[in-house]
Amino acid sequence: MSINYKFPKGFWWGSATSATQIEGAANEGGKGKNIWDHWYETEPNRFFDNVGPGSTSDFYHLYKEDIKLMKEIGHNTFRMSISWSRLIPGGRGDVNPEAVTFYNNVIDELISNDIEPFVNLFHFDMPLELQNEGGWENREVVDAYTDYAKEAFRLFGDRVSKWFTFNEPIVPVEGGYLYDFHYPNVVDAGRATQVAYHTMIAHAQAVEAFRGFDIKDGKIGIILNLTPSYPRSQNPADLKASRITDLFFNRSFLDPAVLGEYPAELIEILREHGQLPVTSEGDTNLLKANTADILGVNYYQPRRVKAKDHLPNPYSPFMPDWYFDNYEMPGRKMNKYRGWEIYEKGIYDIMINLKENYGNIESFISENGMGVEGEERFIQDGEIQDDYRIEFISDHLKWLHKAIEEGCNAKGYHLWSFMDNWSWMNAYKNRYGFISVDIETQERTLKKSAHWIKEVSENNGF
Ligand code: BG6
Repeated sequence: MSINYKFPKGFWWGSATSATQIEGAANEGGKGKNIWDHWYETEPNRFFDNVGPGSTSDFYHLYKEDIKLMKEIGHNTFRMSISWSRLIPGGRGDVNPEAVTFYNNVIDELISNDIEPFVNLFHFDMPLELQNEGGWENREVVDAYTDYAKEAFRLFGDRVSKWFTFNEPIVPVEGGYLYDFHYPNVVDAGRATQVAYHTMIAHAQAVEAFRGFDIKDGKIGIILNLTPSYPRSQNPADLKASRITDLFFNRSFLDPAVLGEYPAELIEILREHGQLPVTSEGDTNLLKANTADILGVNYYQPRRVKAKDHLPNPYSPFMPDWYFDNYEMPGRKMNKYRGWEIYEKGIYDIMINLKENYGNIESFISENGMGVEGEERFIQDGEIQDDYRIEFISDHLKWLHKAIEEGCNAKGYHLWSFMDNWSWMNAYKNRYGFISVDIETQERTLKKSAHWIKEVSENNGF
C-alpha cells in the first residue's frame, strides 16, 4: 500500500473527551455537584430531550473496556479531563479518595496499554459551591482553581507529562455570560469580560505553579477553539469586522496564553465601551512570565463575517457583535447532518498563523470532528458505515500535513470524540465517536472510521 500522506515520527493519534460528557456516575463515588448537575436539577427543560449529564457513556465504570478499545483502534495518546467536583467535591478543601483511585486507575490503565494520557483540568464544569461564590467573576475562585491544579499535579504528575489548564475557555464566557446557553445564564458583556480575564489569570497561575513541580518532560498549555474569521469581501468595513471578530473570539485567549499579553486594539475597544475588567497589581507580569509550552487547537468550522448592515443603537448594552454580522457564504460546503460548515483549509490557515505570529508554538489538533444526527440510519452489517467521517478526517489531515511540510509545529491529531457521548446543548443528538454507544445497553460497537483510523495510526499516514 502506498502512503501519500506520511506524518512525522511519533505523531500523536488519538481522541478527546471530557469528564462530564463521558463519566456518568454524576452522584457516585463521592463526587460533588457542578453547575451542570445543578442546572439540570433546576431546569431540565433547558436540556435537549430533557437529558442531563447523569446518563452518558459510563466511562466511570467501563473505563477498562474503553481503554482496550482505544488500544485496539491504534491510539497512542488520549485526552481526558478531570472533573474538579469529583476530585475536590466542594471546589476547595478535602480531596475525594475515591476520585483519586478512579483517576489513578484510568491513568495506569492507559499507560499500561501504551497510550499517553493528556490531562485537561477544566472542561466547562465549575463546582457548584464555587459558582455560588460568583464563579470566575470572583478572584478568590481563581485561587481555588490554582490549588486544585496543584493537587492534580501532585497526585498525577509522576505519570502525566502533558497538562492543559482549560478547554475552550471562551465557551463558558459566551454560553454563561453573553448568549444564555450555559449556566448561570447571564447576559452582560462587562461581566463576560471579567470572567474571560479571570480565566486567563487562573491559567497563568496554574502554569506558574506547574513550574514548581518536577514533572519529567512536563509541558503545560491550554486548548483553544480557534475559529478563523474570513471577511465577506476585501472592502475595508468587512475587513475590520473580520479583524475585530478575530480579536474577540480568538486573540482574547490566544495572545495572553502564547504571547503573554492582550492585543492593544482589543484593550482599546473595551476601554471605549467602559468594559475593561478589574485587574490586580502584578497581573501583567504574571501573564508575561507564564506563557504556554503547548497549544491544543480545536477546529470545527470557520466564521464568515461582514460589516453590520445596520449600526447598533448606541444606547443598547454593548456586545461584541456590535461590530460584525455573521454571513452565510453562498456555496459553502456544509455538514448536512449537523449544520456546520466544513472548510478543511481552515486547519492549515490556523497552523500558518501560529507559525508566523505565535513563535511556531508546539501544537496539535486537540479536537476536530463531525457530528451526525440520526447516525443509526447508516448501519449495515451491524456497524455504522461512516464514510462521511473518514472523508472529513482525511480532508483535514491533508491540510494539516501540508502545514507540517511547510514547517508548522503540529504534533498530532485527536478526533472529537473517542465514543458517542452526551453533549451540553445537544445530549445525544449529534454523534461524534469512532465508537458508537447504545446508551440503554452501554454496548460499544466500532464504526467503519474506527477500523480506518487504526490503519492510519499504524501506518502513521494514509
Ligand atoms: C466542542 C466541545 O466544541 O464541541 C465539546 O469541546 C462538544 O465539549 C462538541 O461536545 C460538540 O458539540 P455538539 O453541540 O455538536 O454536541
